[in-house]
Amino acid sequence: MNSKELRKHFLKFFENNGHKIVPSSSLLPTDPSVLFTTAGMQQFSPYLAGKKDVLADFDSRHLASCQKCFRTDDIEEIGDDTHHTFFEMLGNWSIGQDDSGYFKEGAIDYALEFLESIGLDKSRMHITVFSGNDTISKDEEAIALWKQRGIISIKECDAKDNFWGPVSETGPCGPCSEIHYDRGESFGCGRSDCGPNCDYCKRYVEIWNLVFMQYFKNEAGEYELLNQTNIDTGIGFERLLSIIQGKNSAYETDLFSDVISKISNKENEVACRIIADHIRGIVFLADAGVVPSNTGQGYILRRLIRRIIRYGKMLGLDGDFWVSLVEATINKYKDIYLEIDRKETYEIIRKEEEKFSLTLDRGLKIINSIEKDISGKEAFDIYQSYGFPLEMIKEELSKKDLSLNENDFYKELKKHQELSRAGVEKKFGGGSNPYLHTATHLLHSALRKVLGEDVQQMGSDINDERLRFDFSFERKLTPEEIKEVEDLINSKIKEGLVLKKEIMSLNEALSSGALSFFKERYPEEVSVWTIYNKDSGDIFSKEICGGEHIENLSLLESFKIIKEESSSRGVRRIKATCQGKYTI
Ligand code: GLY
Repeated sequence: MNSKELRKHFLKFFENNGHKIVPSSSLLPTDPSVLFTTAGMQQFSPYLAGKKDVLADFDSRHLASCQKCFRTDDIEEIGDDTHHTFFEMLGNWSIGQDDSGYFKEGAIDYALEFLESIGLDKSRMHITVFSGNDTISKDEEAIALWKQRGIISIKECDAKDNFWGPVSETGPCGPCSEIHYDRGESFGCGRSDCGPNCDYCKRYVEIWNLVFMQYFKNEAGEYELLNQTNIDTGIGFERLLSIIQGKNSAYETDLFSDVISKISNKENEVACRIIADHIRGIVFLADAGVVPSNTGQGYILRRLIRRIIRYGKMLGLDGDFWVSLVEATINKYKDIYLEIDRKETYEIIRKEEEKFSLTLDRGLKIINSIEKDISGKEAFDIYQSYGFPLEMIKEELSKKDLSLNENDFYKELKKHQELSRAGVEKKFGGGSNPYLHTATHLLHSALRKVLGEDVQQMGSDINDERLRFDFSFERKLTPEEIKEVEDLINSKIKEGLVLKKEIMSLNEALSSGALSFFKERYPEEVSVWTIYNKDSGDIFSKEICGGEHIENLSLLESFKIIKEESSSRGVRRIKATCQGKYTI
C-alpha cells in the first residue's frame, strides 16, 4: 500500500463501519492559546467536552478523519526515524454514548480489526495501559479487554505515558491505551527489560493511541468527570506507513521519496531528512496563511526556512534547490489537501532567503570566531544583527561544546519587544497596524463593486507605510477605475462607517455572505468583520478575518492608491496608503 492507498483504506474502513468522514481542519486552531493543530481531536474538542451537540452538527456520533498536524516540541529531534514537524494523524471518534455508541470495547475491536486488515500481526502488538494514580484507578477494564482478545504483552504505565491531554490548559482528556508494534530484534537494544517506551532503543514503535476520554481538566487543574464518555484515537500516519512498507522511517516511503531522491546524500542523511521534513512543513504552513515573522507561528516558519537554507548550504546544494522540492511536495499532496498555492509559497521562501542570505555568511563568521560560552546579551546581539534564530546559534555553538545563557537571551528579547512595541504605538496608536488592515478590507470590497464580483483576494501584505493587495483580474485598471475605487473608499471614510466583529462557525460565516480567502485555510470557528453604516445598517464589507481592526473609519482621513501593476498572469497588485490620525 502506498500513502494514498493507506489513507483511503483507513477512511473507508471507518466509513463502512458507520463513521462520518470529516475533512481535516486548518493547521491553525481556533483556540488562540495553542500555536498549531497537534491532534485530530482538536476540531472536536467542544463536542468531546459535551459543550456542543455532535449529532446536530455532524449527524453522527461516530467520526473519522485524516488531520493535518504540526508539532514544534521536537524540532531538534528531526532527522531521526520517527519525528516530524508537519505530520498527519488518522483518528476515529465515538462522542457521547447512546445505544449506538461504543466505548473501550468497540475502540479496541476496531483498532485490532483495522490493523489486521492491513496485514499487521497481532502477536507483534504490545499494549500499554494506565497504571492509575491517587485520583484515577488502574484501567483494569482495558487490561481485561486486551487479554480477552489474545494480547499477551500488556504494560502498565503512569500518567506521563498513558494519560492523554488536554491539548491546551483546560479541556477533555483521559487515560489511554497505546498499541506499540515490534519492529523486530534487529532494532532493539537487547536489554532484558526492553519493551514499549524503552529508553534505549526504538524497537517498539507507538502506532495507535486509544484515549478513553472521561475527564475534563478545569482551570483549577482538577479533573472533573465528564457527563459523557468518548473515544478519541490517533494514529501517527507516517509511522504506520513506514511499518506497512517495511521501512525504518517515513523518509524511505513514497511520502518523501520524490524529495529525498533530489537531495540524497549518504554522508549527511540527517541534513537531507531535515530539509525534507522542513520543506513539507513550510509548504503546509504557507498554505495555512502563515508568513515569516519574529513571533508565534511566523517564527516557526522563519526558522524552518532558515534551517533549509543552512542545511542546503551544508550539502552544497545550489541556490534555488528548494524550488523542485516544494514542487514535489505539492504534487504529493495536492489531491488530498485541495488548494496549495505554489506561487505564494515560492514568494515566501524567496523573500526570506533574500533576507537571510545577506546576513548568513557574516553571522556564521562571527559565531565561528567565538571560543567560550557566551552571555544572553551576546547571543541576542547575534540574533538581532544577523537574523540568526536562537536555535541555530545554539546548534553552531554546541558543535564546539559551547553554550549560551538562554534565560538572559529571553530577557533581552522581551526588553527589545517592549521597546519596539512602544515605537509602533507612538506611530499608530495601537499594536501591529489595524488601520491599513481595515483599509485592505475596504479596498477588497470596493474593487468587487467597481470591477465585478469575480475579483478575488489572492494575497495581502501590510507594513507601516503601505498595504499591498493582490487580486484576480485579467487586465490593467484604467485611471478612471482607479479613481472610482479611491472615491468610493473615501466616501465611506467620510460617512464614518463603523466595524463590528462576530464569532461564528465557518458555515454560518460563509452562508451569511462573508468573503473568504481560501475556504480551506480557516478553522471551524471564525471571526467575521463587518463594516457598516450604523444608522442605515447598510453593509459595505463583510469578511472572515482573524486580524484586528479599528472601530470607526473616521480614524482614517483619506485613502490613496500609490501603484497598480501586474503581479502575475491574471493577478493584479495594488499598493495603497492612508492618511489619518494614526500617522505621525
Ligand atoms: N488524541 C489522541 C492523540 O493525539 O494521540
